[in-house]
Amino acid sequence: MISIKSKIILAYTVVFGIMLTVFAAIIYNSTKEASFLKLNANLKSYSISLRTEIEDELDDNSSLNILKLSSIRSKGLIGERFQLFDKNGKVVIRDSILSKIPPADLNKVLNESFDYEKRKIGHHKYHILWSKFETENDSVYILETAASVKDVFEELDRLFYLFVIIIPAGLIITGIAAYFISKAAFKPIALMANTAKNISGKNLDKRLELPKAKDEVRSFGETLNEMIGRIDNAFKSQKRFVANASHEIRTPLTVIQTELEILEKKLNDKESKESIKNALSEIEDLTRLTNSLLTIAKLDSSETKLNINQIRIDELLVDCVQSMNQSAMKNNIKIKLSINDAIEIKGDKEKLKSVFLNLIDNAIKYSFADSSVSIKLEKLADNKIKINVEDTGLGISQAEIPYIFNRFYRSNEIRSEVSGSGLGLAIAKEVVELHRGKINVESKIGERTTFSVILPIAVY
Ligand SMILES: Nc1ncnc2c1ncn2[C@@H]1O[C@H](COP(=O)(O)OP(=O)(O)OP(=O)(O)O)[C@@H](O)[C@H]1O
Ligand SMILES: [Mg+2]
Repeated sequence: MISIKSKIILAYTVVFGIMLTVFAAIIYNSTKEASFLKLNANLKSYSISLRTEIEDELDDNSSLNILKLSSIRSKGLIGERFQLFDKNGKVVIRDSILSKIPPADLNKVLNESFDYEKRKIGHHKYHILWSKFETENDSVYILETAASVKDVFEELDRLFYLFVIIIPAGLIITGIAAYFISKAAFKPIALMANTAKNISGKNLDKRLELPKAKDEVRSFGETLNEMIGRIDNAFKSQKRFVANASHEIRTPLTVIQTELEILEKKLNDKESKESIKNALSEIEDLTRLTNSLLTIAKLDSSETKLNINQIRIDELLVDCVQSMNQSAMKNNIKIKLSINDAIEIKGDKEKLKSVFLNLIDNAIKYSFADSSVSIKLEKLADNKIKINVEDTGLGISQAEIPYIFNRFYRSNEIRSEVSGSGLGLAIAKEVVELHRGKINVESKIGERTTFSVILPIAVY
């Protein structure tokens, strides 16, 4: 694909190239024409001077003086020569190189008094002028005068070589100038494109940088900025709706949960108790989803995203394991926690807790029964810590790995079997990245999965 910039450079160069060539051709041809007109005029005046002398000499004593005639010169001519024929085409007198050949069309010369012709004599080209005249005793003569055109052609050659240099040089200069002009013209567009590349759903408050000049590019940029503004508003109102809806749902859910728990305790009938338990489990899932949606909405909003404090990460992990132990035990899964040192880092306790709770929850949910989940905390050399959460379970296929951190992404195989909303890892990734950390995953399908979180100890 040819860029617009290249097209402009090409167009400028081609148009200028055509203009230069046409201009050069016109100049060359007019110079040629003018030079030959001048040469012919000089040849004519040379012929007239010779004729006058010849007529005088013939009238005086009827013998011609070749030396005198040869000494006649004309301004602006080189290599001028002459030859005199009688009316039958026989040479009367001749100055050196001109051959004894009479005019090609003797009758034409005899009728017209002046006739021009081009001829090559030896290696040089000559312009020839035939002129007819009559002496006082009525004898008719034809005078042939010739001049070399070497000078004219040398001058035309010089002009030609000058154009051969000027045209390509002109094209190169035009190309360079067109490159810089189009670069300057496209600079504001490139700047806007660069900013546009960095605008995503997360920073819709950003706007394109507009050029100062009030031109078409600026008005295009303004239109795009207005469009981004409208998208921003639409996104904001959608996020506000999700946040408000989740918030409104949370309170009735807590009330329903409490009421059902009380009811379950009061009931003696086994079947009804089982139904209430199922309802309570659904409410638990719904509460988790509502909480995840609220967390996402808060992460998306422009409110202060992290509440940074000095926290003991080892204690936080112990807390997480304790909260998850009960659900692990349901599947007979053992959680092994390996911590060597007490480590303090700066971070948002609640949000980091939600990260590890989700990783452990996943490790339990997607593990085989009777297996174990290991959590390991270690200090890295460059003021960082690493937390690994490893399970021996379903694993994640390589094809799915790029998507698991996307919002609402859930593997197709487990979608119907294991409850979840597909928000846990998306939240975890955002929280870890807000702490300027990284979250990675390594997995072998059907065997094991390891999530590792790397966090800086203190960057704030
Ligand atoms: N330890 C794991 N082993 C196998 N698959 C996993 C594991 N952790 C995550 N996944 C896959 O990644 C998907 C996304 O996980 P994520 O935690 O974001 O959502 P979820 O667990 O399905 O739902 P939620 O966490 O919102 O309740 C999961 O649905 C699952 O397919
Ligand atoms: Mg999860």
